[in-house]
Amino acid sequence: MRIGILTISTSLARGERPDDASGDAIAAFVAGPDLAATVTQRATVADDRTAIRDTLIAWADSGACDVILTTGGTGFAPSDVTPEATADAIERAAPGLAEAMRAGTAVQTPLAWLSRSTAGMRGLTLIVNLPGSPKAVRECLAVLAPLLPHAVDILTGRVRQHGQ
Ligand code: MTE
Repeated sequence: MRIGILTISTSLARGERPDDASGDAIAAFVAGPDLAATVTQRATVADDRTAIRDTLIAWADSGACDVILTTGGTGFAPSDVTPEATADAIERAAPGLAEAMRAGTAVQTPLAWLSRSTAGMRGLTLIVNLPGSPKAVRECLAVLAPLLPHAVDILTGRVRQHGQ
């Protein structure tokens, strides 16, 4: 599985923060035993709806990623526009993935309900928003990881849907 990691943070994009801890947490998780995936794209962009959308579209249309995981910009602050930018980029919604992450992690972290993360597909690429902290990334990926291989296999046509 090929993964793109897009960190959405204005302070990081401006160089005001040195470490992309959430992006690093995604990279470590996806390379680990649960997914054994390869990171094929990685970047940081500011909380800018157009810049986020354009990066998602460029990566999806390049065919370089099976899954794009974003981190950050999903909350209630006026500057949080990742879900809107994702909606601008996707062609089909996959709301269950975001619902699963919220419901599956709210037991341990009730603030999970404050993430407006969304998910969907553009062409053969699945895009999923994760919240913007390393802890949240790890909690959400623990819920998402068991679903991803089959989701990608169906999306890319490597397996037919159940019952067919
Ligand atoms: N989800 C999980 N599983 N764990 C967390 O610690 N943090 C929440 C929420 N989702 C969190 C979480 C908090 S505090 C916020 S404000 C929202 O995600 C939005 O975060 P973001 O704006 O960095 O994307």
